[in-house]
Amino acid sequence: MQRLVRIIWAFYVPWIVGAATAEQWRSRSIYQIITDRYALPSNAESTKCNTGNQTWCGGTWNAIRENLDYVQNAGFTAIWISPVSQNYEGPRTAYGDAYHGYWIADATKLNDRFGSADDLKALSAELHKRGMYLMVDVVVNNVMATSTTPDLSPYMFKEQSQYHPYCPIQWGNTTSEQDCWLGDTNVTLPDLDTQNPSVVSGYSLWIKELVEEYQIDGLRIDGEHFMTRIPRHVNTDFWPIFCGAAGVFCIGEVFDGNITQAAQYQGPNALDSILNYPMYGVLVDAFAIPGARNVSAVADTIAQSRKLFKDPGLLGNFLEDQDVPRWANFSVDPQTLYNAMVFTFMSDGIPIVYYGQEQGFNGSGDPWNREPLWPSGYANSSIYQLVTSLNKFRNFLIAGNTGWLHSPAQVLTTSPYGLGLMKGDVVSILTTIGSPPQNVSLAVYTPFREESATTDILTCKQYAVGSNGTIVVSYEKGGRPTILIPDKLLANSGFCGYEPQVAVFTGNAALSGAVGRSMRSGITTEFALLFLIGICTFLAM
Ligand SMILES: *[C@@H]1O[C@H](CO)[C@@H](O)[C@H](O)[C@H]1NC(C)=O
Ligand SMILES: *[C@@H]1O[C@H](CO)[C@@H](O)[C@H](O)[C@H]1NC(C)=O
Ligand SMILES: *[C@@H]1O[C@H](CO)[C@@H](O)[C@H](O)[C@H]1NC(C)=O
Ligand SMILES: *[C@@H]1O[C@H](CO)[C@@H](O)[C@H](O)[C@H]1NC(C)=O
Ligand SMILES: *[C@@H]1O[C@H](CO)[C@@H](O)[C@H](O)[C@H]1NC(C)=O
Ligand SMILES: *[C@@H]1O[C@H](CO)[C@@H](O)[C@H](O)[C@H]1NC(C)=O
Ligand SMILES: *[C@@H]1O[C@H](CO)[C@@H](O)[C@H](O)[C@H]1NC(C)=O
Ligand SMILES: *[C@@H]1O[C@H](CO)[C@@H](O)[C@H](O)[C@H]1NC(C)=O
Ligand SMILES: *[C@@H]1O[C@H](CO)[C@@H](O)[C@H](O)[C@H]1NC(C)=O
Ligand SMILES: *[C@@H]1O[C@H](CO)[C@@H](O)[C@H](O)[C@H]1NC(C)=O
Repeated sequence: MQRLVRIIWAFYVPWIVGAATAEQWRSRSIYQIITDRYALPSNAESTKCNTGNQTWCGGTWNAIRENLDYVQNAGFTAIWISPVSQNYEGPRTAYGDAYHGYWIADATKLNDRFGSADDLKALSAELHKRGMYLMVDVVVNNVMATSTTPDLSPYMFKEQSQYHPYCPIQWGNTTSEQDCWLGDTNVTLPDLDTQNPSVVSGYSLWIKELVEEYQIDGLRIDGEHFMTRIPRHVNTDFWPIFCGAAGVFCIGEVFDGNITQAAQYQGPNALDSILNYPMYGVLVDAFAIPGARNVSAVADTIAQSRKLFKDPGLLGNFLEDQDVPRWANFSVDPQTLYNAMVFTFMSDGIPIVYYGQEQGFNGSGDPWNREPLWPSGYANSSIYQLVTSLNKFRNFLIAGNTGWLHSPAQVLTTSPYGLGLMKGDVVSILTTIGSPPQNVSLAVYTPFREESATTDILTCKQYAVGSNGTIVVSYEKGGRPTILIPDKLLANSGFCGYEPQVAVFTGNAALSGAVGRSMRSGITTEFALLFLIGICTFLAM
């Protein structure tokens, strides 16, 4: 019966909401925002925002909406915002205040620190007007409290039986990891029992309404507990039912660098996608200076991903987020970030840029990596320009319908200085040597025809293809990344003197998905189906 409910949700919901599917998200590029830290309201005084102080700095949904040009001009086609639900508002804890939005109190209410329901709707509408998607972060594994015996009446789930009983986690004991509460006794994270049918149906209804009310296009699922939760230890039905009810793409946080473990969270019994922590770890190892500079691990991980993940093209590629240190905090050389960034855009997967990465922010871990963005002046910095080129080039490749998006990335060559990566007709040559010029070069064997011409879209320098398809890049001017495409494919690209395509929308379904979402179908059918789902859900319990 649960299966029937799931099937009905799966067909019913996307159909009425016109919601964004995994296939539509594949072509997107995401800018990740912590609402409190992205932008101040236009009339607000620019007060000092001290990240170490772990309190609110004043960012709002309206302020995001008023500053969307900065994101869109950089070529992003979606934003992901921190959780929107009401948070803990009690006395300041040992870990500060709930400025980040992850300390859920009542999920049925919005967090009025960040604005009203109308403000959130206005943000969503403005994004859709621009052809962009809205992804919202949701926390469903737990709520937040300051005691091990909290009063449950303010929460969405009010029954003791809907939570696992309190116990401190004993790491290494899987039962304990699964059922006990995260946090400590200063800040407890009461753990929902997602096998309890009333929790399953309560969450399903909640997420369906949230997605519909605010026209949300995708969900990022916070993952405190993911590594012990699915698929082996917990009811694997929860995530497909929850995401089926939402009717939109779901990407989960699985904070686990072990690819065998992580890969189990993607699939029909789990989630559409996860954040690519295994690749993140490998990219840090390959590119950071100081670091192991192990590029063969990148090649290995690409090969392993193809074997182990259901669909590597949907994974979320990132180099920074609110839980890991900024790249600049552990890698002293800016070229290391540029090379690694090219990988996140030109390989398989959905590129994600964490706000401030484009400004070279350098904070260490939580809370230092949640800097306010406004002191940067939203400058057109060199990293901002690189991000813009990468997004525009990727959007051009996707709009061309040449199959680039679906062709699997492959490593052509590895060397002590870097690697050559190919996806579709694009060869990216990435180096680990860093900024100082070196008299070394990297020869990459490509399938390009001998004597054909290719252009590096970042510098517009031409590279001829030598015998055996070889392209040689030398690093006498330092270790810059190179992105090569055959000249004949650059027409209409807007790059390197080629005129841009005139039409704004090329009719590419993937990129114009948000435009069609206002089409809604008949109310009568909707009610008939809702009634049917109600009966099935009731019978399933
Ligand atoms: C830190 O936050 C507290 C509470 O919001 C505030 O009273 C205090 O002035 C802040 N300190 C600094 C250095 O910003
Ligand atoms: C609670 O917070 C205090 C102050 O930060 C800290 O010293 C203490 O270790 C915390 N308690 C627990 C159980 O972590
Ligand atoms: C593991 O954790 C569970 C749940 O807290 C507990 O009942 C059990 O005794 C623990 N097992 C061991 C070996 O400590
Ligand atoms: C990764 O997880 C798999 C499956 O649990 C395990 O067999 C393997 O040893 C782990 N690898 C590492 C490097 O820990
Ligand atoms: C590089 O990574 C691979 C795993 O992909 C590992 O087998 C190898 O030992 C690593 N090399 C170094 C020098 O760390
Ligand atoms: C980190 O960034 C801040 C703000 O831009 C800057 O003042 C500081 O010098 C940077 N620190 C290092 C070590 O680069
Ligand atoms: C790393 O972050 C910490 C805290 O934000 C800062 O004090 C330190 O200067 C940073 N280091 C670098 C190299 O940016
Ligand atoms: C940033 O600067 C580059 C190079 O000068 C320019 O081409 C681009 O249009 C600028 N971007 C914005 C958003 O101003
Ligand atoms: C670079 O290296 C090559 C061969 O390794 C050598 O012939 C050449 O002189 C070097 N150039 C410089 C500027 O050091
Ligand atoms: C030709 O390219 C292949 C890889 O595509 C490489 O294995 C081989 O060594 C190259 N041959 C020559 C003569 O460079």
